[in-house]
Amino acid sequence: MCGAPVAESVKTLGDLKGIFRDQAAWQDSDPDREVYRVRWWAPVVSGNEGGLFWGVTILQPGRVGDEYFMTHGHFHANRTRAEYYATVAGIGTLLRMDAERRTWAEDMVPGGLYYIHGEHAHRAVNIGDVPLIFWACWGSDAGYDYGTIQQHGFATSLLERDGKPAIVPHSS
Ligand code: PA5
Ligand code: MN
Repeated sequence: MCGAPVAESVKTLGDLKGIFRDQAAWQDSDPDREVYRVRWWAPVVSGNEGGLFWGVTILQPGRVGDEYFMTHGHFHANRTRAEYYATVAGIGTLLRMDAERRTWAEDMVPGGLYYIHGEHAHRAVNIGDVPLIFWACWGSDAGYDYGTIQQHGFATSLLERDGKPAIVPHSS
């Protein structure tokens, strides 16, 4: 996607305070290192009903301590608004979590299509060695609730254990 109407947002390690569980490793990391960028097209004003937004996320490979690079993760402000993700390149894990903190983890592989229920928080994790690239399509009035994840986190984390990705409860 390119051209004037396409917006872009870049998240560096410094922008992701409190997201990774190893805070000491996060403090030691380069705050300017890019973790991911999103380019999206918003044909209507955000918050208006009836439109669809389309975006691509490019999530770099890397870790903070033993935790793989991931997106911030969010619920939609409007819990009735669902979303599609579709993997284009790379290998990852899509974490979803409901209000009771039940979680689901699905492999993200090129060609994979994922329907994210409106009540589920969602976060993508890059468990590979190359950028994880995925499309997203969501309703223009979905909105974002980042605060719940900022405050309580996800119930599970993707950590490298013995050279392989492992899904572990957040408290362990
Ligand atoms: O709409 C989405 O869910 C995605 O486009 C995400 O916003 C994107 O992957 C970045 O993640 P986050 O918004 O959690 O920082
Ligand atoms: Mn979303």
